[in-house]
Amino acid sequence: MDSIIPIVISALEDIDKGKSLRNVLRFHVNQYKLDREEESTLYYYVHEIYRKLNWIDLFIKTSSSNFSLKKIKSDMRALLRIATHMLKVNNKSVNEVATILEPHYHSIAHISFCTLLELIQSVTEENLYENREDLPSKYSLKYFTYTWIIRKFIKQWGEDFTEKVLQSFLESIPMYVRINILKASFDEITGNLTDYEIKYTPVDTIPDLIRIDETPVPIPRLDEFKDGKLVVQQKASALVSLVLDPQPDEEILDMCASPGGKTSHIVALAGTAKNILAVDLNKERVKILTNRLKLLGAEEVKILSADARNLKTAVKSTFDKILLDPPCSGSGTYSSRPDIKWRIKQRDLNWYIKLQNDLLSEASKLLEVDGCIVYSTCSLFEDENHEIISQFLKNNSNFSLMLASPMIGIPSDLLNNRTQTLYPHIHKTEGFFIARMKKESS
Ligand SMILES: C[S@@+](CC[C@H](N)C(=O)[O-])C[C@H]1O[C@@H](n2cnc3c(N)ncnc32)[C@H](O)[C@@H]1O
Repeated sequence: MDSIIPIVISALEDIDKGKSLRNVLRFHVNQYKLDREEESTLYYYVHEIYRKLNWIDLFIKTSSSNFSLKKIKSDMRALLRIATHMLKVNNKSVNEVATILEPHYHSIAHISFCTLLELIQSVTEENLYENREDLPSKYSLKYFTYTWIIRKFIKQWGEDFTEKVLQSFLESIPMYVRINILKASFDEITGNLTDYEIKYTPVDTIPDLIRIDETPVPIPRLDEFKDGKLVVQQKASALVSLVLDPQPDEEILDMCASPGGKTSHIVALAGTAKNILAVDLNKERVKILTNRLKLLGAEEVKILSADARNLKTAVKSTFDKILLDPPCSGSGTYSSRPDIKWRIKQRDLNWYIKLQNDLLSEASKLLEVDGCIVYSTCSLFEDENHEIISQFLKNNSNFSLMLASPMIGIPSDLLNNRTQTLYPHIHKTEGFFIARMKKESS
């Protein structure tokens, strides 16, 4: 336990600086060559602390007015968060926490560590709820989410459904892996998994996707994963490429492609990479995309580093099918990526919406008549989903909505029951929205 504390502190500091939780965990496991037990302790603390960050921070802020949590050094901020988690979630005593964490403490505002722990311990849950009369403010602490997000959800769905979705963000969703048939057969890989005593269930409707029910070894440690024969991919995400239904002779554009989970799936479904163009704006992410497509046996995909809002000049041709999986708030993924819950502010949402609109508008220009666009996000906010599509259809009368089949999710009556939304508590996957539109001759 003692040796893992500096690593947990370092991971929390990196996430605090804006790095992604997933990347930080992967980096720390590899860098420090953690064994299985250390890895699970690191995952536990980082996930738990980021899941409950507003609640943990409120205990610390309420405990003392002698320092500002924002202004203290990042390692001490991380240490206090671990300490508060141990006191308030693990129900450890002040002495127990002091024994584990004191060696890593440097004075904050000349307060001794034990005094600080006692101050935090003296704050009760009732103290936190003072002046929080309305439901969104109460849910904000009960379900560890910003109030503005809860207000948006309640406006969309009402209180009961919102509570179910918020509850689901506190639970783990199953891990799904796709057998990468570009590199191995379904039978070969599932045979190996059985030999490793991994229990799995094939997913109805999505060929080559299995749900991992029980595994004695983390999937990323398997050779099959390292060799690109297995792709960790959420059920909802794998559904998107099926809705696109790529065919071998079709010209296909993946407009926002990195890290390439859907691109490689499109190649597997089409059975060829030769007509596929994958675009991403971010140079670092283009490198990730290139390496990943190579690992997954899809290196023949053409890759372009460009702003997809302005592709018409760089790409002279048109496409039969376009996948637009644009940047979004990620509000469907809070269960597996709790850090992003705290990153996105209300004002950022408008920036995403503008980007999504601009990308969709460009996609419409690059599409052949009779071709189709599949639009997907891992957001549950209707203004990144239904409203984008409604507005687009209003402004582009030569486009019509097609059924986004195969339908696994809930169809939306806002859009003639043709789009689908997947919810974590119903579909046991990340929250996702998928729409499919056809271009008619004008
Ligand atoms: C949601 S992620 C795509 C995930 C990907 N489709 C997959 O399944 O692996 C959105 C991607 O869009 C890229 N992006 C952001 N703005 C862009 C733009 N203007 N043009 C092209 N790509 C953009 C980001 O760099 C990011 O990699």
